[in-house]
Amino acid sequence: MPVVLAAECPSLPLVHRGKVRDTFDLGDAYLLVATDRVSAFDVVMENGVPDKGRVLTQMSTFWFDRLAWVCPHHLLATDEDSLRGRVPGWGPGLQGRSVVVRKARPLPIECVARGFIAGSLYKQVRAEGGRTLGLDLPDGLRDGDRLPEPIFTPATKAQEGHDENVPFARAVDLVGREVAETVREWTLQLYRQAAAHAESVGLILADTKFEFGLTDDGLVWIDEALTPDSSRYWEAAHWRPGGPQPSFDKQPLRDYLEASGWDKRPPGPRLPEEVLEATRERYVEAFRRVTGRSELA
Ligand SMILES: Nc1ncnc2c1ncn2[C@@H]1O[C@H](COP(=O)(O)OP(=O)(O)OP(=O)(O)O)[C@@H](O)[C@H]1O
Ligand SMILES: [Mg+2]
Repeated sequence: MPVVLAAECPSLPLVHRGKVRDTFDLGDAYLLVATDRVSAFDVVMENGVPDKGRVLTQMSTFWFDRLAWVCPHHLLATDEDSLRGRVPGWGPGLQGRSVVVRKARPLPIECVARGFIAGSLYKQVRAEGGRTLGLDLPDGLRDGDRLPEPIFTPATKAQEGHDENVPFARAVDLVGREVAETVREWTLQLYRQAAAHAESVGLILADTKFEFGLTDDGLVWIDEALTPDSSRYWEAAHWRPGGPQPSFDKQPLRDYLEASGWDKRPPGPRLPEEVLEATRERYVEAFRRVTGRSELA
């Protein structure tokens, strides 16, 4: 399979090019294509990770299917035959990495569930204490500790750089109480179900980020689902709270970048083949462990 850095679909209007996914307009639906672009420290690297887009798409489809009983999701078509019929200019560059989805208006919040403390929330709690963001966390939490119970920590989408964690009350201001309460329920339920499955295959799902959007039929779960890009997966056997945990998927990439002296400002550097291959291996391993399938479609 070719490495795809930009999805080629000349006959369809490109609606959005994100850090990783390209969205095309099909009229009554969107075509969402996960490329092999890879970002670290919020910057996209010059070259791509082979098979990464296929892992993201096929892992998302696995989770949307498995958790469809929790809430409605946006997938309309995922199998090759229906896609071929719907997408003009279908070809190998789209295969295995594309889905047709319902058009939604994304809510202006990211819905994050956390069962463990890490990353931006750990820094915030260390600086401001366990009551930050209106939470009620115990004192003395170490980086990587399990939380007494999973929590919902919404964030606002930053145009550039990191998203900002906000109190639940701010989410209510942005989307209304009813929607905020619904997505909080769904987020926590999706997280609990997914974390239990991850645990059964020796992985910790430390946290994950969902997006929801509005359609004429109400709220739906959109975007990607529980992929390594939207989630922190840790190897359960290597979990040692008290410092940053190795990332299941991007650690080889981060280690390389830290050692390279790159200043973390765009443009991202060109990565050596062995770093791309090591990263590819981690993404595919995450796919295998989570889905129980040995090969990508
Ligand atoms: N069903 C949908 N309807 C409308 N928009 C969607 C739908 N599903 C996903 N999206 C949007 O498509 C985009 C996916 O692209 P991608 O994740 O690469 O970029 P991004 O999230 O905008 O930016 P980045 O991830 O680079 O910070 C997101 O903006 C997401 O909100
Ligand atoms: Mg995104």
